[in-house]
Formats: sequence, C-alpha cells, structure tokens
Amino acid sequence: MDINRRILVTGGCGFIGSNFVRLLLEDHPDWRVINLDKLTYAGNLKNLEGIEEDEHYGFVKADICDAKTMEELFVSEQIDSVVHFAAESHVDRSITGPAAFIQTNIVGTFTLLEAARKTWLDESWKGNEPRFLHVSTDEVYGSLGDTGMFTESTPFDPRSPYSASKASSDHLVSAYLHTYGLPVVITNCSNNYGPYQFPEKLIPLIFHNSMTGKPLPIYGDGKYVRDWLYVKDHCEAIVEVLTKGQNGQAYNIGGNNEKQNLEVVTGICDTLDRKLGLPKSGEARRNLITYVKDRPGHDRRYAIDASFIKEQLGWEPKVSFEAGIEKTVDWYLANQEWVASVIDGSYQKYYEKMYS
Ligand code: NAD
Ligand code: TYD
Repeated sequence: MDINRRILVTGGCGFIGSNFVRLLLEDHPDWRVINLDKLTYAGNLKNLEGIEEDEHYGFVKADICDAKTMEELFVSEQIDSVVHFAAESHVDRSITGPAAFIQTNIVGTFTLLEAARKTWLDESWKGNEPRFLHVSTDEVYGSLGDTGMFTESTPFDPRSPYSASKASSDHLVSAYLHTYGLPVVITNCSNNYGPYQFPEKLIPLIFHNSMTGKPLPIYGDGKYVRDWLYVKDHCEAIVEVLTKGQNGQAYNIGGNNEKQNLEVVTGICDTLDRKLGLPKSGEARRNLITYVKDRPGHDRRYAIDASFIKEQLGWEPKVSFEAGIEKTVDWYLANQEWVASVIDGSYQKYYEKMYS
C-alpha cells in the first residue's frame, strides 16, 4: 500500500496521544505513524500494547527538546505532518514544580517548530504539503463566571503555570505562521476523559479510589465546572483539523457537557454501585467524598463554544457525557490490571521488555 502521509505524533504514549495513535492505525492504514515520546511518568507504552508490530507504526524514545534528534528525524522519516501532544499536562504538578512545564511545553514546542521550519521551508523539501498541528487547551482562556463561553477570539488569560506554558506555546506556533509562513493549525480543547487516562486526573482518580475504598478528594466546594469531552471525539476532531483546517486558524473543541465536579464524582460512584453493588462496607461509594483544601488559583468554570469547528469542518461530538462515563467505567473495570500497573509503577518496565 502506498503511504500517503508521514505523521509524527509527539507524546503518543500519553492519554490522548495513545488514543489518537490507535485511531490513526485503524482509520488510516495508508499513513505512516511515528510516535515520539520521552516516556515521562505520564508516558506508558502499555497504552499501545498490541500495535507495536503494525508495519506502519514506529516508536522513538526521545525528548522534544533535543534539537538534533528532532531535525534528523524530520529528514530521515520525511515527516510531512506533526500532531504535537507532548506536554506536561497536570495543573497540580505545575503548581508544585513549574520548571518542567516551561521546558517541555515552551522550549520543546519551539524546538519542534524549528525542526519543521528547517525541513519544510528549505527549498530541497520534496515531500507532501506539510502541516503542523499543535494540540492545546481551553485553559489558555482563563476562567469564566456563571455565564458565557470561550470562542476562538476570547483573549488569552492563563492562570496556572500549566495554562501559561500552553498559552506561550500557542503564541509561538502562531508566530511561526506569521513570521516564516509555516503551515500551522491549533486546537484548543476542553477536559478529556476515557481509556488510558493517568489516574492523577479527576475521573480515573475517582474510579481508582472508589474501587479501593479510599477518600474521594473534592477541591474547595466542588462546584467548579468543566466541559467534558470523550477522548475519541477529540481525536476525530484533530484528524478533521489536520486534514481540512485552514492554515493559521485555531479551532475550539468541546463536548457541550458542562458539569460541576461533584456531579461527575457522584455519577462515577453511582455507576459503580449500580454495576457492582455496594462495597463490603455496605455504604454507597459517594460517601467516600472528602472535601479538601482548594487548588491555588483554581479556575471556576470552563465552557467551549464549538460552533466554529461545526460550521467550518462539520465536526461535533458524538458521545454524550452519560454514554461516555458508562463506556469509561466499563473500560476501567475491564482493564484493572492496567490501572494496577500504573499505580504500582510496574508499567515503566514495559519499555525495557519491548525495546531494549
Ligand atoms: P499526558 O500527560 O497523558 O501525556 C503526555 C505525553 O507527553 C506523555 O506520554 C509523556 O511521556 C510525553 N512527554 C512529556 N514530556 C515530553 C518531552 N519533553 N518529550 C517527549 N515526550 C514528552 O497528556 P494528555 O492528557 O494526553 O494531553 C496531551 C496534550 O493535550 C497536551 O498537550 C495537553 O496540553 C493537551 N490537552 C489535554 C487535555 C486533557 O483533558 N487531558 C485537554 C486539552 C488539551
Ligand atoms: P483535573 O482532572 O486535574 O483537570 P483540570 O485541572 O485540567 O481541569 O481536574 C478537573 C477538576 O477536578 C478541577 O476543577 C480540579 C478538580 N479536582 C478535584 O476536585 N479533586 C481532585 O483530586 C482532582 C485531581 C481534581
């Protein structure tokens, strides 16, 4: 089969990246997919178990901040498309240790942009029409009050080291279009959930703690609002933007599923009670809810207006929150070994088994 696209996916061993790699190999057998990942604590090769032998898939363990390796890879693999997920992604970690966020999210994105510029804008480039898609977040827009939604023209107002580093990388990506004419597109997406999410984020953390009888930590009053999107919907939107988006455009992606954190947590608990019955204690799992000290600078509400991507590219989410939570809980129940290997750290040995 002819290869029609040679795509570099950065951060493909993380939560969204691994769902994206799986989707590409299923839906686009004529694309070559190179997954480049540093394998930080959030990178898990087990997320891609079973696809290593796919002849159109390749894995490179590297840091996006390593300019020489990035430039060599663009040339050796004749990369014509980048979907850039690699990032430090957890707000709480950005509060206790911001340095890695500055390094990977800003310096790393800059390094990749430079590799793309040097390769694609060189007159010797003979590959396909190139495209650099930068995956970003709605958190760059800051926090909403009770009303209103983020649109593509909402001014940036990031509040955490994480969102500030992502906003900074979004600006760099736009600057490469305006200054050098690099063909870039940006996506700003709301909170994702689904299979393979690291259990430091709300939904998998609540699943794990309610299965093991641990307290369910709710920050502040629990009335913070997020707009939840099932990860496969996000991945499908990215393919649409990559293949049909307009250069220089940012596209907001959201689930139209605004929920307070308390609703999300009780929803997971009640779903587990219904599927498994009450735990040995005889108490409903929602009784494990424990109010804890709030996150500093906690953004009150995020909500995405995703009408632009619907009008321009015909994308809209397919999975309702209720259906998505059902699928997600079923996946975590069926993959408790995966959860256990992440919790006990043994997933990190998988690399040695597969690639050493
Ligand atoms: P994740 O933390 O699960 O995965 C990040 C991946 O990047 C890991 O595999 C990690 O090993 C890799 N990585 C980190 N630093 C690297 C480096 N220097 N070089 C190479 N690889 C490196 O993240 P996620 O939740 O899958 O998010 C992916 C992207 O989507 C991020 O850019 C994030 O900002 C964005 N995003 C996430 C959400 C969400 O709800 N999770 C929502 C909107 C946007
Ligand atoms: P999180 O999954 O960390 O995503 P983000 O901060 O990027 O939105 O958190 C989602 C929401 O849940 C956020 O309002 C913080 C809150 N939260 C808790 O109340 N308890 C927790 O243990 C965690 C991890 C998050």
